[in-house]
Amino acid sequence: MDLFSQPFIHDNSMIESLTTNDKALIYTECHTRIEGLLETETDLIAGLANVSAVLKEAFHWWWVGFYLVKDKQLVLGPFQGPVACTRIAFGKGVCGAAWAQNETLVVKDVHQFPGHIACSAESNSEIVVPVCKHGAVVAVLDADSEHFSCFDETDRLFLEKICATLGHLF
Ligand code: SME
Repeated sequence: MDLFSQPFIHDNSMIESLTTNDKALIYTECHTRIEGLLETETDLIAGLANVSAVLKEAFHWWWVGFYLVKDKQLVLGPFQGPVACTRIAFGKGVCGAAWAQNETLVVKDVHQFPGHIACSAESNSEIVVPVCKHGAVVAVLDADSEHFSCFDETDRLFLEKICATLGHLF
């Protein structure tokens, strides 16, 4: 089944009722689609823009996109969603913390995360996954949801797999 010609989720109201198996199915389809898109595209912006679009189209998250490591800061990169803050310092917010720790952070309630940067008042949960090249963080993938506890270990697992395929773009 092609989940993109027949979407599994039509809007974000369904997202809370997704089972682990549903998520795994959608991520597997996303991964295949992303692999296909990146097979022939080596440009950083073009590649990351389409990765953001595939994930947005599949999950209808509030915001999904990339911050790129530039001059010892995270700078806003390709994304899908509302206007976002453009620069994040090392260690600051969920994105800066994931960069500093070089590990994925799953935040069930962003209001409880010390130093969370609220780009949008609508966001209630978040996942940030580092993208690495030769072991160094070169970007982070950030996804935000207006639902609490939207992201879990299944999201971590599959988003880490997707991010592991992006290093060659940098
Ligand atoms: N909430 C993030 C900032 C980026 S926006 O959510 C798009 C953070 O705390 O780092």
